[in-house]
Amino acid sequence: MTRTPIAAGNWKMNGTNAEARALCRGLAGIDAIDSVDVVLSPSFTQLPLVRDFWRGANVHIAGQNMHTQPSGAYTGEISPVQLAEVADWVILGHSERRQFFCEDDQALALKLRAAEAHSLTPILCVGESEAERENQRTSAVLTRQVSVALGDSPAPSGLVIAYEPVWAIGTGQAATPDEAQAACAHIRSVLTETLGAETADTVRILYGGSVNPSNIADFMAQPDVDGALVGGASLQADAFLAITQAIADSV
Ligand code: 13P
Repeated sequence: MTRTPIAAGNWKMNGTNAEARALCRGLAGIDAIDSVDVVLSPSFTQLPLVRDFWRGANVHIAGQNMHTQPSGAYTGEISPVQLAEVADWVILGHSERRQFFCEDDQALALKLRAAEAHSLTPILCVGESEAERENQRTSAVLTRQVSVALGDSPAPSGLVIAYEPVWAIGTGQAATPDEAQAACAHIRSVLTETLGAETADTVRILYGGSVNPSNIADFMAQPDVDGALVGGASLQADAFLAITQAIADSV
C-alpha cells in the first residue's frame, strides 16, 4: 500500500497577519512539489488570509483545534461549521491542548466525530510525556489515546495520526528514527485491531517533535512514518520547503 506522505506545518500561536502573509510568500512553489500533501495550520485569525493566498493551489489548510458543537453558547470556541468555511483539515488533541486546556481522550472522540460530520480531515495527535517514557509506558499510553479517541465507530475518512512525543516538542531533542518507527508501528498495530488491517494500512502516521531539514530524511526512511508534523521549523519558509522537498524525495 502506498500512502501519499504529508508535510504539515503547525504554526501554533505565532505571528501577525503580515507575518503569516510573508511566510506564505516565502513558501512559493511548495504546492508544486509532487507526491506530497502539504498542510498549513495557522492561528484562527490568520486562516482566511492563508486560505485566500493558496486558493486553487494544492495546499490544505488546517485549524489547530475546534469545538464539537455546530453552534451555541461556548464563548471563545470555534465550531466545526465555522472552521469548515476557512479550512479543510483540523489538528486535534495536540499535546499542548491536552496539557494546558485539559483535553482528554473522551473529548477527542467527540471531536473526531464532529470533524467527520463536517468533512474536515483530522490529524489526531498522540504521544507520551517524559515521565511516561521513563516508566516504559509509551505503548500503553499510545494504545489508550488511539483506541479511546477512535471508539467503536468506523474510522473518520482520511484519518491521519501524528505521533508527537511530548519530550521532543520544541526541545531540539528529537526521537531517534528507530524510536519513531517503533511508536508508529505500534500505533498501526492498534489501528489494525480497532479498524482492521485494510483500513490501518491506509492511515497516514506522522512523526512530530524537533523535525528539521537535517533529520527528516532519516524519519522518512522508516516504513511506518508517512510524513511530519512540524512546529518551529515550519515558521521558517526555507526550512519548511527543505523538509517538504525531502519528504517528497523519500517516496
Ligand atoms: P517542534 O517541531 O517545534 O518540536 O513542534 C512539534 C509540534 O508540536 C508540531 O505540532
